[in-house]
Amino acid sequence: MTSGGLLRLGAGQIDVWLTSLHGVSADLKLAYLQLLSEPERAKWKRFVAKDAQLQYLVSRALVRTTLSRYAEVPEYAWEFETNRYGRPHVSQPLAARAILFNLSNTTGLVACAIGKDCDIGIDVENIMRSLDIDALAPAVFASAELADVRQSPPGDRRERFYSYWTLKEAYIKGRGMGLSLPLDAFWFDLNGLSPRLNVTDRCPDIPERWRFHRYAPTPEHRMAIAVAAPRDTEPSVCLRWTVPSLAGDGQPGGLVPGLANEPGIA
Ligand SMILES: CC(C)(COP(=O)(O)OP(=O)(O)OC[C@H]1O[C@@H](n2cnc3c(N)ncnc32)[C@H](O)[C@@H]1OP(=O)(O)O)[C@@H](O)C(=O)NCCC(=O)NCCS
Repeated sequence: MTSGGLLRLGAGQIDVWLTSLHGVSADLKLAYLQLLSEPERAKWKRFVAKDAQLQYLVSRALVRTTLSRYAEVPEYAWEFETNRYGRPHVSQPLAARAILFNLSNTTGLVACAIGKDCDIGIDVENIMRSLDIDALAPAVFASAELADVRQSPPGDRRERFYSYWTLKEAYIKGRGMGLSLPLDAFWFDLNGLSPRLNVTDRCPDIPERWRFHRYAPTPEHRMAIAVAAPRDTEPSVCLRWTVPSLAGDGQPGGLVPGLANEPGIA
């Protein structure tokens, strides 16, 4: 919905804006740099790896231009604070603090999920990067998840690994607590129609308040979104591709297909 050119967020509505990191022109990079606050620019300068530096720059541009689609605030004017676990939120302007967002970036892609009355966590991962999943899985998965990954056919194992990984990341980010939540204190069951969360008393929560969505925005990327909407509100998620631009293109991009929760797919 729009009002005076601005987009509006309905109850339980989550908009996810995706930006490819391929082919970002020098002109765009320069324009994005103008949007950064002084501390952001200083942080951008400190990145040694060019990939990580670009991810940081584009994710700042994406979050600022995205927020400005929903509130009459210039892109450069947004100010942010973080909670004690590092989750950023809008601090200024005060009137726009109700807009909530979460960011994720990986090689080739950045994503920004935005909503109003929901806890949101998002994670994108590039499944083509070289990662020793057999070595990593025992350190990051609960025993049921680990057993499931290990018993997946070799050709499906990587896909299964990233299903759990992105869901777990999206959840700890949705909680706003990051890695302070022990990764083996909660686990996902992928056997139903949609992922189901289970928690132990080391991760107190009401699993039923969460909904989880999984996507393959490109052949090499997997993404999960965790949403806790207010009671009696069924969250809806809409995905759009965009190239952050100061003029604000304002147009919804191509929609991204969801991942079916079927054996062999994830
Ligand atoms: C920091 C963490 C929240 C996400 O890290 P990540 O997966 O490396 O990176 P992502 O790109 O998905 O997310 C980073 C963004 O999340 C946001 N973020 C940081 N702390 C957050 C928190 N506690 N809650 C929610 N969001 C947070 C920030 O916007 C951050 O980007 P920025 O620092 O550029 O602003 C944390 O989960 C982490 O360090 N994970 C390491 C990876 C890991 O071991 N995962 C286990 C998976 S099973």
